[in-house]
Amino acid sequence: MNELPANAPTPPPAADSAAPKGGRPSGRTPRGKRKLKILALFDAVAPTTMDQDLGPELQTSDWKTEAHVLGALRELGHTVEYLAIFDDLNLLQQKLETFTPDIIFNLADQFRNNRAFDQGIAAYLELHGLPFTGCGSTGLTLCKHKAISKKILGYHRIRVPDFTVITRGKRCARPARLKFPLLVKPLKEEASYGIAQASFVANDEQLRERVQFIHNSFDCDVIAEEYIAGRELYVSLLGNHRLEVFPVRELVFQAVPDEPKIATYRAKWDEEYRRKWGLQNQFAEDLEAGLARAITQTSRRIYHLLTIDGYARLDLRVTPQHEIYFIEANPNPILAADEDFAQSAQRAGLSYPQLIERIIRTGLKTVRE
Ligand SMILES: Nc1ncnc2c1ncn2[C@@H]1O[C@H](COP(=O)(O)OP(=O)(O)O)[C@@H](O)[C@H]1O
Ligand SMILES: [Mg+2]
Repeated sequence: MNELPANAPTPPPAADSAAPKGGRPSGRTPRGKRKLKILALFDAVAPTTMDQDLGPELQTSDWKTEAHVLGALRELGHTVEYLAIFDDLNLLQQKLETFTPDIIFNLADQFRNNRAFDQGIAAYLELHGLPFTGCGSTGLTLCKHKAISKKILGYHRIRVPDFTVITRGKRCARPARLKFPLLVKPLKEEASYGIAQASFVANDEQLRERVQFIHNSFDCDVIAEEYIAGRELYVSLLGNHRLEVFPVRELVFQAVPDEPKIATYRAKWDEEYRRKWGLQNQFAEDLEAGLARAITQTSRRIYHLLTIDGYARLDLRVTPQHEIYFIEANPNPILAADEDFAQSAQRAGLSYPQLIERIIRTGLKTVRE
């Protein structure tokens, strides 16, 4: 999962100005679209400078998505520069004094190492009237908060696991209606940070222990949700009003004999662990036609109800009775070529550069309010 696929675009050099190759009509991309000036905006885990050469970072697996996107932008013939920000948006202001992009390709999904601050960056771009790719600040805010998103969808009668929120410093009290087993998660995290086998709790004592652990070691609020047993499906969508729904992916737990079956942190990022338990991301097989239609329709509704723009991957669970449960929405999901979103798009006929181009064109059309 962390390896570059053989056909992955190679990362370009720093501050790459991808000049069109000979023979191409000037001002057009290889596919005949208008050539654009694009600023790729990244987050960094430590302070950066404006003209910092990220060449070494872009060779590492941590920067795989950034490298893939830069490679595709170059292949498309756009004029590309990049900037990584840690906690200083003045850098962006300075950058814009010398480089005026048609659009910002927004891959900055944390600020000062806080993944819940991604919406602040989008809000900044909105306030400055800068066109950018992906989701706006409202959609990011609603989706990041795993309780607010469920309240909205529950109100609209989309199935969500029942849950309670336990804020830091508060006693862990379980409402009587909430039935074990429960899954305990950080309220506003991503990438399965803080999710392990011990997140699955079967009684009040285990619940208290896990909640305390998350409060203390992650210093964040907690959501405890009823555990939904079923198939784990990932639905990728692209668009604003008219949405394209790509073929559904599934995480299968081939060698996990019993519940819980959870995409824990190790299940996502530890190759050896994945091999041991037969964890495999693949296209969902044998989805009965009626169920497949219901998944598509429900996914479209979720996307609109959570005011997502651009592109997103939804995490769903489907029970043996074919009930579709919303688990989480990921606007601006990981865009690396070998991750679920790009894999789904490819199955729908979009090569990786074509997908990146579609994301850009969608971003240019987005009305930010
Ligand atoms: N209510 C639930 N029932 C069953 N499994 C869950 C539930 N909530 C989360 N999970 C499992 O934990 C994984 C991570 O949870 P998720 O809310 O998607 O967090 P993250 O934002 O870190 O990806 C899910 O992909 C799923 O495998
Ligand atoms: Mg998830």
